[in-house]
Amino acid sequence: MGTKITWLGHSAFQIETAGKMILLDPFLTGNPSAAISANAVSADVIIISHGHGDHVGDTVEIANRTNALVIANFEIIEWLGKQGVENVHPQHIGGAHQYDFGTVKLTIAHHGSMLPDGSNGGNPCGILLKLEDGTIYFAADTGLFYDMSLIGEEGVDVAILPIGDNFTMGPEDSVRATKLISPKRVIPTHYNTWPLIAQDAAAWAESIRQQTTAEPVVLKPGESCQL
Ligand code: NI
Ligand code: MN
Repeated sequence: MGTKITWLGHSAFQIETAGKMILLDPFLTGNPSAAISANAVSADVIIISHGHGDHVGDTVEIANRTNALVIANFEIIEWLGKQGVENVHPQHIGGAHQYDFGTVKLTIAHHGSMLPDGSNGGNPCGILLKLEDGTIYFAADTGLFYDMSLIGEEGVDVAILPIGDNFTMGPEDSVRATKLISPKRVIPTHYNTWPLIAQDAAAWAESIRQQTTAEPVVLKPGESCQL
């Protein structure tokens, strides 16, 4: 049935591939745009980009309920261990690992990563997912960086980029990022959760169409597209 990408609101995504349910940054409780609740979502795998509360979110609760495998950088995995999460796999920037659903590689991201209790969350990461139907680059929280062109060299089918501004790239820099990555399609994220990161996604999509070769895919929370 192919790989299905669903936006759960804010920076949370659900990716169904190879018979597995993968959650990215499952911040649902306290997320005003959450499309599903933490106690209803299913998960075989959870991947966390960085330590901020709007990304770690409900990871501990979901992992304990589902026994999903949690993948993140070494520091976040160490912290999760102290919260009682046992089914884990640490990676770090530049490192790839092949799982039964595909390959996960952590990339750089220019941001912070402090965990909710003030612990050190290591360096923030982006996530490159090589799946049976194609490659997804989830930039997570980051500013624009020129090395996105190196990530693009790996052949990105779908890029998921923040457009909210203030804490991450805004709409204009995400258009520049799209030029560096050259994905086939680009999905905006990390916007409209709160007034501070409100953006006009339709205007952003028009800029993507006019200035890049990528097709913009604007989802509403709960909506999906195929990879
Ligand atoms: Ni953040
Ligand atoms: Mn964030």
